[in-house]
Amino acid sequence: MSPTGSPSYPTPLQVRGRATNRAPEINLSGQALYVPGMPGPTERYGRFAKYYDFIYENLVDYAADVRYLEAIFRRFLPQKPRKILDLGSGTGNHDLPLARRGYQVTALDLSRPQLAVARRKAREAGLRIRFVRGDMRAFDLPASFDAAICMFGAFGYLLKSTDVVRCLRSVRRHLGPLGIFAFEFWQRSAVRPSPYQSWFHKVGREFELVRLSEARLDERTKVLAVEFRFFVFRGRRVLDRFDETHKVRTYTVPEMQDLLRQGGFELVRAFGAANGTKKGFGPVRRNTFRVFAVCRPVRS
Ligand SMILES: C[S@@+](CC[C@H](N)C(=O)[O-])C[C@H]1O[C@@H](n2cnc3c(N)ncnc32)[C@H](O)[C@@H]1O
Repeated sequence: MSPTGSPSYPTPLQVRGRATNRAPEINLSGQALYVPGMPGPTERYGRFAKYYDFIYENLVDYAADVRYLEAIFRRFLPQKPRKILDLGSGTGNHDLPLARRGYQVTALDLSRPQLAVARRKAREAGLRIRFVRGDMRAFDLPASFDAAICMFGAFGYLLKSTDVVRCLRSVRRHLGPLGIFAFEFWQRSAVRPSPYQSWFHKVGREFELVRLSEARLDERTKVLAVEFRFFVFRGRRVLDRFDETHKVRTYTVPEMQDLLRQGGFELVRAFGAANGTKKGFGPVRRNTFRVFAVCRPVRS
């Protein structure tokens, strides 16, 4: 997700008032389910799950991400990893290509709707991926992994330092002796001034979707709250309408280093995304929004 509204859609919009209508169910077969007067916002990655791929297939180059991950594995692991753990795996957009390349993937996510989409895609593709519903703040799996990953903003959903440290300790317990944890986090210095409004619009074969976003950084908690308003329609008919508020924590590199230390890791390298969401091996600059971190368990 790109809760800043994504750098690729910087058009500011003036959004007035609060949309509070909420439909009880999604039906894209044509029946309008817009029920006025029901309060929102809805559960995070609930109804959104249905549209997640429709939105992000245009905003994220998942194939390039997987090539990047393999380059990270080549640089930082002694041999090609066999077993990979993906935290906050969403609709499985990294997991399917990784499984296709021969990795044994376990994908963990908190959202049932996101997992349902991921499971369906894996089934249709004939891929064996272990999907687990779980909380990355504390999990216990009967397996150990050569690499753990947490991609595209998922790590930011850990809002408190205690959550981050718990997550890191859980990851550490599941890594083999030479394993690495590679994840993305958002650098505070690159967050756009609040409030930051943006929009996404796409016309598909079955429906058209508009998503309005407004992001605000809380300077005290360092949390970026993003209000999303979704409008799904065909012609003049509203098929779906809901809101979600996503809260994502932002960091400085030294803050992250400190949290990693508390969680039993050392930061091996931090890379700046080349532009937008495209990952690279460049240095982290003040205006780097997405930082890609590679870390290793500290040996005691
Ligand atoms: C922005 S999406 C990223 C999904 C996927 N990694 C991708 O690149 O498309 C964030 C995901 O993190 C999941 N998530 C948020 N908090 C979580 C938690 N505490 N434990 C597990 N998953 C979580 C959400 O359900 C969502 O699917």
